[in-house]
Order: sequence, then structure tokens, then C-alpha cells
Amino acid sequence: MNIVWHHESVTKAERRQRNHHHSCVLWFTGLSGSGKSTLANAVAKELFQRGIQNYVLDGDNIRHGLNSDLGFSPEDRTENIRRIGEVAKLFVDSGQIVLTAFISPFRQDRELVRQKLEQDEFIEIYVRCPLEQCEKRDPKGLYKKARNGEIREFTGIDSPYEEPLSPELIVETDRYSIEECTEQIISYLQKQNFIK
Ligand code: PPS
Repeated sequence: MNIVWHHESVTKAERRQRNHHHSCVLWFTGLSGSGKSTLANAVAKELFQRGIQNYVLDGDNIRHGLNSDLGFSPEDRTENIRRIGEVAKLFVDSGQIVLTAFISPFRQDRELVRQKLEQDEFIEIYVRCPLEQCEKRDPKGLYKKARNGEIREFTGIDSPYEEPLSPELIVETDRYSIEECTEQIISYLQKQNFIK
């Protein structure tokens, strides 16, 4: 009520033109331990070295601040992703490539983010890695805790993960190295003419 949209003095198009690259969301989704954060950070570093404006939004970090009031119930995960979607859109408007590393287990939540953006602004990247492999890696010891019943509603154990049906990209971190997966993503961005 009584809130009116204020139009910006510098447009997204002008920012993109100045940056000499497209702005979009690289939405990494996958199980805990699949390699989302590692890969998002590796791609971010590569983009940075090429002079491309970018920023990583990471699940664990965002849950320390912006979303520190949210847990892991289905409703809280939905709200987590909704807020991240809004933040990601702001980054796209600012002319940057934003890389988001969230489990984002529900298809509908990811679709809602996609719908908030233009068609060429949402790149869904499925970081595919079998549960057994993620559990073997268990970098934070969380799978062990989930199996012991110390953590409830853990994705893949007693909370679902809905695989993307038609993601723009699938990277397989159990078959290829982080460098190879990074290369795959950079090539995609070049092929789409998003970056040079
Ligand atoms: S979600 O589902 O998208 O809202 O989750 P996200 O914000 O990405 O947070 C996932 C990280 O939180 C830790 N963690 C859990 N993950 C899944 N389920 C439960 N119950 C849980 N509790 C804590 C875990 O470190 C996740 O990080 P990643 O990097 O995915 O391993």
C-alpha cells in the first residue's frame, strides 16, 4: 500500500554495455557435498580473472546473515530460495553475473525464481553427484549426524531432493574434476555470447 516503484537512473542495459558482458544468474543446485560452493567459487575466480563482474551467494553464508531466521523445514527452504531469488535479481539488474550455491531441493521453488527473471537470465546448473558419493565425501560430517538422527530433515536422507528436469547444464562432479566442470560452464557462457 502507498508504495510506488521508482525507476532507476542507470538501466540494466547501460550497465551491461559498460561491463561488456551479459548479466545473469548461474543457479547451482544439488545435494549437500555435491560441490556446488567449490564449483561456484572456481567459476567466480575464472570470471574475475577475465574482468567479469560477479558475486557468489552461498547457502551456509547467507544463512549466517540475511536468512539466519530460517531452518530446514520445507516452508523455510521455500522462503530461503524466494529471498535468494529476489537478491539474485538485484545482482542481475546491477549488471553482474551472480552465482548461487543452494541445495534448492524443490523444483517449484527454482521455477519461481526462473519466472522472476528474463528467459536468458536464469541458467540452472545441476551439480549431479550420487548420494553415496556425497555421503562418502561428507566434508562437514553432516551425513553422519543425519544417519545418527542428530540432524532431522537432511536432504537426501529424510528430506527430498527433486532433480531438475531440463537444466541448462549438468555437471558431474564424481566423473570430472572441478577444473573440467569450470571449463564446461565457461564454454557454455561463451557459446551463448554471454561473455567473450
Ligand atoms: S536449502 O535447502 O536450499 O534451503 O539449503 P541451503 O540454504 O543451501 O543450505 C544448505 C547447507 O546447510 C547445511 N545444513 C543442511 N543441509 C540440508 N539439510 C539440512 N537439514 C541441513 N542442516 C544444515 C549444509 O551445510 C548445507 O550446505 P552444503 O554446502 O549444501 O553442504
